[in-house]
Amino acid sequence: MNTRVLTGITTTGTPHLGNYVGAIRPAVEASRRDDVDAFYFMADYHALIKSDDAARIERSRLEIAATWLAAGLDPARVTFYRQSDIPEIPELTWFLTCVASKGMLNRAHAYKAAVDRNTETGEDADAGITAGLYMYPVLMAADILAFDAHKVPVGRDQIQHIEMARDLGQRFNHIHGREFFVLPEALIEEQVATLPGLDGRKMSKSYDNTIPLFAGGKKQLRETIMRIVTDSRLPGEAKDPDNSALFTIFRAFACETETSAFRQALIDGLGWGEAKQVLYERIESDVAPMRERYEAFMADPAAIEAILQQGAQKARAIATPKIVALRDALGLRSATAVTTTTGQPKATPKQGKMPRFASFRDADGNFRFRLFSADGEELLLSMPFTDPKAAGALQKRLKTLGAAAAVVQAQSSGMALVLDGEPVASTPEHRDESARNDALARLHEALDQLAAQE
Ligand code: TYM
Repeated sequence: MNTRVLTGITTTGTPHLGNYVGAIRPAVEASRRDDVDAFYFMADYHALIKSDDAARIERSRLEIAATWLAAGLDPARVTFYRQSDIPEIPELTWFLTCVASKGMLNRAHAYKAAVDRNTETGEDADAGITAGLYMYPVLMAADILAFDAHKVPVGRDQIQHIEMARDLGQRFNHIHGREFFVLPEALIEEQVATLPGLDGRKMSKSYDNTIPLFAGGKKQLRETIMRIVTDSRLPGEAKDPDNSALFTIFRAFACETETSAFRQALIDGLGWGEAKQVLYERIESDVAPMRERYEAFMADPAAIEAILQQGAQKARAIATPKIVALRDALGLRSATAVTTTTGQPKATPKQGKMPRFASFRDADGNFRFRLFSADGEELLLSMPFTDPKAAGALQKRLKTLGAAAAVVQAQSSGMALVLDGEPVASTPEHRDESARNDALARLHEALDQLAAQE
C-alpha cells in the first residue's frame, strides 16, 4: 500500500524560508515518489484562530497556494486543497472533540504559553484566550485523521500536535472498538528541523523575524538577509559557525561540499558582510526560477481556484465515505437505515439471510464476482482477474475486512473499494449524493455481516 503523506500551512502570512525548507520542499520531494500518495493543503480554518484580518487571510491563501505550485507541486499527482473546502473536517473535529481529554489540551504548547504570559502579568489565566486556540490541536488531528495519513512532514514546532493526533485517533479507535483511524507519525528533516530567523530564534510570523521566500523579489531577499543578526567579530577574526543563524540557514540550502567550504571560510575569518552576500547568492539561485512561476500564478487567481476546486473534489471523494462510516458507527444514521429498535448490532442478518458472492466469467474470459446484500441488491462488482485464484483470494479478504477497514473512494458516478492502494471492485452508479451515501451504508452493513460470520 502507498504511504499517505499529508501536511498543511496556516494562511496567516507570506510564506517564508522556514515554511519552505521545513514543509514545502520535503513535501514536494515526497510527492514525486511512486510509493507516496500526497495530500497538501492551506490550513485556512487554523488561520481564523490567529487572525481576524480577512484581507490578510485571503491574500495569504493565494500566496501559499501559488508557493506550493511554484515549488513544483503537480496538482494532477497530489491532492491539493483548502481546508475550508472540506466540510468533513469540522465535522470530524467535533467527533474528536467528544473523545479529547481536556487535560491533554491544557498541555498544548501554544495554549500553555498564552496562560503563562497571562500569569506573569498578573492577569486571569485564560484572559483573551479563545476556545479556538484551545481546540487548535483537535482541528489539526481532524486534518490528518480524515485522510488516514501515515506520515506528516513538519518542522519540530509541530511534533506535539502530531502526537496529540495519534492520541486522539487511538482513543477513538479504543472507545469505538475498531481501527477507524491510521495513527500518523511526524516526519522531521533533521537538517532543518527548526530554521532560525533574523534574530536567531525560530523563524516565525509571530516573532516578526522571517525572511520572505518571494515577497518583494530579490531586492527584498537580499536586504532581509543583510539584517541577520551576527556577533561583532571583525573580518579576519575566526567565526563560530555552530552558533550562527546565518550558517544554519546556509546549510539548509546547500549540499555537503558547499556547507563544509562555507564552514571553513567562516573559521578562516570571512567577514559577516561577505558571508551574507554568499548566503544571498546561494538562496537566490534556488529561489529565482521558482519566483518566476510564483508571479505567473499570482497573476492568475482563476487558475489557482480551478486547481483547488479539483483538489477539494479529490479530497472529498475520500473524506465523505470516511465520515459516513463514522456517522454510522456513532449512531448518526438516517432513521430509515435503522433496522431495529432494541439496540441489536446492525450486523444481525435479517431472517437468517446473509450477503453472498456470485462468481462468473465475463465475455473476455476473465474471472469476476459480484457481492449482493442479504436482500439481493448488487453492492459490488470486482475487477476482472485472469487467475481465478486471485478472484477467490479477494473474496476471502472481503469476508473478513469489515466496514471500518474498508477504504471507499467516490468516483464520478459510483464508488470504488480500494485495497492496498488499488481499486479492486466498484459499486453500481448512483443517482445523487444521498443515494450514494445510502448505498455506502448498505455496503458497510454487508461487510460487517460477513466479518461477524467469519
Ligand atoms: P505553520 O503554518 O506555522 O507552518 C507550516 C510548516 O512550516 C514549518 N515551519 C518551520 N519549519 C522549520 N523552521 C521554521 N522556522 C519553521 N516555521 C514553520 C512548520 O513546522 C509547518 O510544518 N498547525 C500547522 C498547520 C497545520 C498542519 C495540519 C500541519 C494545520 N493542520 C496538519 C500538518 C498537518 C501550522 O500552523 O504550521
